[in-house]
Amino acid sequence: MTVSTIVHVGALELKNPVLSASGTYGHGLEMSNFVSPALLGGLVSKTVTRKPRPGNAPPRMAETPSGMLNSIGLENRGIEYYKKEVLPTLRGAGTRIITNIGGESVEDFAYCAELLDSESVVEALEVNLSCPNIQGAKLPFSTDANLAAAAIAAVRKATKKPVWAKLSPNVTSIGDIAKAVEAAGADAITAINTLLGMAIDWQKRLPLLSTTFGGLSGPAIKPVALRMVVECSRSVRIPIVAAGGARSADDVLEFLVAGASAVQIGTWNFVDPAAIGVIVNELPRLLRDSKIADIADLIGSLRAPTPVKFEGVEASLER
Ligand code: FUM
Repeated sequence: MTVSTIVHVGALELKNPVLSASGTYGHGLEMSNFVSPALLGGLVSKTVTRKPRPGNAPPRMAETPSGMLNSIGLENRGIEYYKKEVLPTLRGAGTRIITNIGGESVEDFAYCAELLDSESVVEALEVNLSCPNIQGAKLPFSTDANLAAAAIAAVRKATKKPVWAKLSPNVTSIGDIAKAVEAAGADAITAINTLLGMAIDWQKRLPLLSTTFGGLSGPAIKPVALRMVVECSRSVRIPIVAAGGARSADDVLEFLVAGASAVQIGTWNFVDPAAIGVIVNELPRLLRDSKIADIADLIGSLRAPTPVKFEGVEASLER
């Protein structure tokens, strides 16, 4: 049985729904010894910012059961370096290049978007509205719908490229933020970034991370990500790109059923840098086993009542 693994995130066609997640795979080619980038649906870069950033002081990573905490603080060499030194190496990678841009002001986001607009190798911009490790963990651009919309509107104005808004799970209603960025011109939503958490050394009475709080990622957050993909996909009409704890081909298909059009593999790359290739190769077999000819048929196929009921209380999950 021939199966198709092709998916679309808006106008962008991907050969399969498997993408690397920002910050877990370098800018893309660093992992070529483990997996040919041409195998993947796309590569999402580490966050690039207007100016170089040294990141937060160490320790800035801590292992947790089924996951990890990070407080890297968007360490990177800045957008000028990325344009000059990194982008040329990505030409001919044989996969879609999605650049993740970050900032601490609306102007920062717009500046990066404008600078990348003429770069043909970049096929979409993922706007990191939701890094919990800068601005005192206040997450202004992903917890305030107006600020989220302002950032996306400024990026929309600065570029013709598809704009993906990467949202935070650290909110009461991600659907409301999703609606705000959709109205501001986002072409897709990436859900979710990390959950704000912390770890403690009880003997020293100290937090393990220099910043006290950091972002929790890995398999531990997959159930939260699934729930939020469902909420987003039922709140907006633009496509959803899932991120959050996926580590297998089955996980990828779960996220598609939840409503995602593509799925990012993140923390699992640190556990097994070759896993993302195994996941891609597994997909056709899983589809064949279930007699599914077209992977796209799974997207949003969850048979859940809308609205969902919690102990008799109806939660609004609008379509
Ligand atoms: O701290 C960091 O660099 C993490 C970024 C993110 O979660 O977006």
